[in-house]
Formats: sequence, structure tokens, C-alpha cells
Amino acid sequence: MSSPGPLNAKRLAAARALDFIEPGMRLGLGTGSTAAEFVALLGQRVADGLRVVGIPTSERTAAQARAVGIPLATLEDQPELDLTVDGADEFDSRLRLIKGGGGALLREKIIAMASHRMIVIADESKAVAVLGRFPLPVEIDQFGVAVTVRQTREAAARAGCQGEIVLRESAGAPFVSDGGNFILDCHLGRIDAPEDLAARLVAIPGVVDHGLFLGIASTVISAGAGGITVLGRPGS
Ligand code: 5RP
Repeated sequence: MSSPGPLNAKRLAAARALDFIEPGMRLGLGTGSTAAEFVALLGQRVADGLRVVGIPTSERTAAQARAVGIPLATLEDQPELDLTVDGADEFDSRLRLIKGGGGALLREKIIAMASHRMIVIADESKAVAVLGRFPLPVEIDQFGVAVTVRQTREAAARAGCQGEIVLRESAGAPFVSDGGNFILDCHLGRIDAPEDLAARLVAIPGVVDHGLFLGIASTVISAGAGGITVLGRPGS
């Protein structure tokens, strides 16, 4: 049997996540191509009569969810969520993540942490032994970028990491997140002490948040040549 390509693997992981959905749930809806597979499948279930409410992690996801007919709410309406289903750029065996490749890390983290449970869906290429191969996104205020870059570099060095730190661009201008912030992509190669780095990054005044999700995900569903693997808390 041929192994699924990355797109199919994303769809397989997204489909497995549907098993965790129960009627009446308040659901955080992630951002990115894997989360989009989940939103599309969830839309089909809603069309078939499933009653849930979605809280999107980005304007992009909100638009897709509306298009497929998922009823939406805000965190003001629903400050406590049952479950968030989202993708990731990397995950390790302790369910620690790098997120933010799509630029939605702040809303993704706010929504994941407002949820009783976060399920990550991914193709198996996202599994790593050590986080950091994917450039770590750090969301920063637009004020004082040069200072924040310097302090981010110093924080990384103190946490044992080195590498280029690049202001993310889009169409020749700085990329701006849904929250109006810039993003630094930190090409660190490996992050041996993610908790240490995370603590140092949040202490920088210009840093709004970073893409290290530590102790937040309770389950990772990954799909690939070997089929579907569920790491962490099983069950529905
Ligand atoms: C967006 C994210 C995404 O979950 C992450 O980038 C994975 O995206 P994809 O499913 O397209 O590989 O964190 O900010």
C-alpha cells in the first residue's frame, strides 16, 4: 500500500480528531493547512446536524468556518472552551510544540489555554527529537523592533541557542498578525531547553508571546506512512 502524501496525512489526522467531538462542544478552531482540513470536515458534520460552536484562532479560519456553515462565537461570549483542535509546526515526544508558522500564534495560544483540552493534528514530518529545526516565531510589538531583536538574541544565547533572527515579511513589508503585531522568526536549529528559553522570552517587554507551546497540548494525532499515531491522552 502506498503511504499518504503530506496533504492526505493532514486530512487523515483531521478526520481522526472528529472522533473527539461531542454535540454541544465549544471548539477552538486552529489555523493552517491541517486545521483547515479539520474545519472542512467539521463543516460537513454541522451540515449533517451536529450542533457545536467554533471560536476561530484567526480571521482566515473565521472566514473558512463561516463559508462551511459552522456557527461562531467570540471568547467574550464563550470564555471557557471544551476543546481546541489545531496544527503545529513541530512536536516532540513530550507534546511540546512550535507553532506560529501561519502567524496566528498569539490567538492560538489564548484559545488553546482557554480550552480544557488541546488536540494537535499533524503529518508525521512535524515530529522532532529536539524542537528548533523550524524557526521559532516570536510575536513582538511594532515599537522598538531593533531593541526587541537584540534582547531576543541575548535571551536565546542565555538559553543555549544561537542563530539568525529575521523579521517576517509579506509582499516586501513586515508581516502583521491579526492582532497588529510583527513576528520574528528565530532560526535556532535546536532548542535544548525550551522552558528556559520561553521564560526568558516572555520577560522581554517587546515580546507579546512566542510559539513555544509547553504543557498545553494534551494529545497529538499524527498521520503518515505508518498510519495514525495518537500520543498523550487517548480516548474521545
Ligand atoms: C499557524 C500555526 C499552524 O498550526 C502551523 O503553522 C502548522 O501549519 P500547517 O498545518 O499548514 O502545516 O501554528 O500559526
